[in-house]
Amino acid sequence: MSNLMQSEAIDTDERRARAEEIRPGQVHEIRPVPRITIQAFCESEVVAQTLESAARDRRMARAHVKVHMGGIPAAVDFYQSAPTPNLVVVESRRTSTDLLNDLSRLAEVCDAETKVVVIGHFNDITLYRELVSNGVSEYLFAPISMADFIGAVSDIFVNPESGPLGKLVAFIGAKGGCGSSTVCHNVAWSVAAHYQNDVVLTDLDLAFGTANINLDQDPPQGIAEAVFSPDRVDDILLDRLLAKCAEHLSLLAAPSTLDRTYDFDKDSFSGILEMAQRGAPYVVADVPHIWTNWTRQVLASADEIVITAEPELANLRNTKNLLDNLRELRPNDPPPRLVMNKVGVPKRPEISVADFTGALDKEAIVVLPFEPALFGTAANNGQMISEADPKHAVSDNFDFLSRIVTGKAELRTEKKSALNLLSMLRRSKA
Ligand SMILES: Nc1ncnc2c1ncn2[C@@H]1O[C@H](COP(=O)(O)OP(=O)(O)OP(=O)(O)O)[C@@H](O)[C@H]1O
Ligand SMILES: [Mg+2]
Repeated sequence: MSNLMQSEAIDTDERRARAEEIRPGQVHEIRPVPRITIQAFCESEVVAQTLESAARDRRMARAHVKVHMGGIPAAVDFYQSAPTPNLVVVESRRTSTDLLNDLSRLAEVCDAETKVVVIGHFNDITLYRELVSNGVSEYLFAPISMADFIGAVSDIFVNPESGPLGKLVAFIGAKGGCGSSTVCHNVAWSVAAHYQNDVVLTDLDLAFGTANINLDQDPPQGIAEAVFSPDRVDDILLDRLLAKCAEHLSLLAAPSTLDRTYDFDKDSFSGILEMAQRGAPYVVADVPHIWTNWTRQVLASADEIVITAEPELANLRNTKNLLDNLRELRPNDPPPRLVMNKVGVPKRPEISVADFTGALDKEAIVVLPFEPALFGTAANNGQMISEADPKHAVSDNFDFLSRIVTGKAELRTEKKSALNLLSMLRRSKA
């Protein structure tokens, strides 16, 4: 139930007292908030302090919270040039028409997936209903308590009835060694670095996975613990298995050892991938170049698939088979994206990119040159390409790919905000 509705029956003194502490019995019903990024723009110190305190609560331990001052105008200014987080919280003392006016400007600079919570100073049920029905996720009536805030965030992002929070992006190579894992790890890194959205990178190549080498990690545990004990998979186990690679990037590493064989059932990875998707906005899967029930199942459940291929004949045949098969498997999903990699290997007779993509009737989303010094140095140093050479054109290509698979490229130009406030404003003025 909304804080606004509850607050109608509560007098000001009680609300103020409530704002100062989390009441026992109230907060431990709240489920922990997943790995989301929250940015708040407050107008009053008291609200800012409440949000700062909430950020330190253990239920918010996985979230990244930043509290700024300046209200909606500061948020509008900030997002002209910065990517929007998973949740924007804005405090406003303005009355309904002015508030709607401000929010319509915010809508213009927000990505579609960004949720918005408004903390307002008017106990107005009509305003509440209008905001919520037009894309604002919650309206909280100030002063708010920590429990009000954490509860609202948890309700938005931990709703078992809604689908998983996270988008699953799967990478597979058309042929062994074509560079699929390298592309996968660099894109995961780029999403985490540029959009400040949390990414869980899962290395599904249990025997030979290289994410641990490429990201310079040697965690004692990883994805094997989850797939071999599916009954134990919960968010606490997931937390334990994740190795932190960067502020927003965590790795579920493969053991990369051969002391056992890795034969899996069709749904062996479903539990851990679903758990990861409930906990983070992006889950990236490095799928090995094999065709089994379980790899097909992972690809079937992905929101986006990226096929990496080299410009030669076996790659062409395999890419065609993958595209045909995946089209049948997921008729209502977007087709896989194609990355052409290692283009221009000296002395190698290659199929030109134009002929390769023409034969498939499929454009390549990026074309990466064969650059053994750059890729070899990065791999040997446990670095991403952007770390090894941020100015190299290949780094831009990975950034572009990360925009495409997250859907951010389209959003930047079209500004498709989930907030439908522009139309709402027009209606309210009519
Ligand atoms: N564009 C490139 N230029 C030069 N070397 C590259 C390029 N892309 C990848 N490599 C190198 O190719 C090798 C194989 O890459 P990677 O392990 O990513 O391929 P893969 O398709 O995942 O292989 P596997 O089938 O073993 O999973 C690595 O040494 C990597 O550094
Ligand atoms: Mg690989």
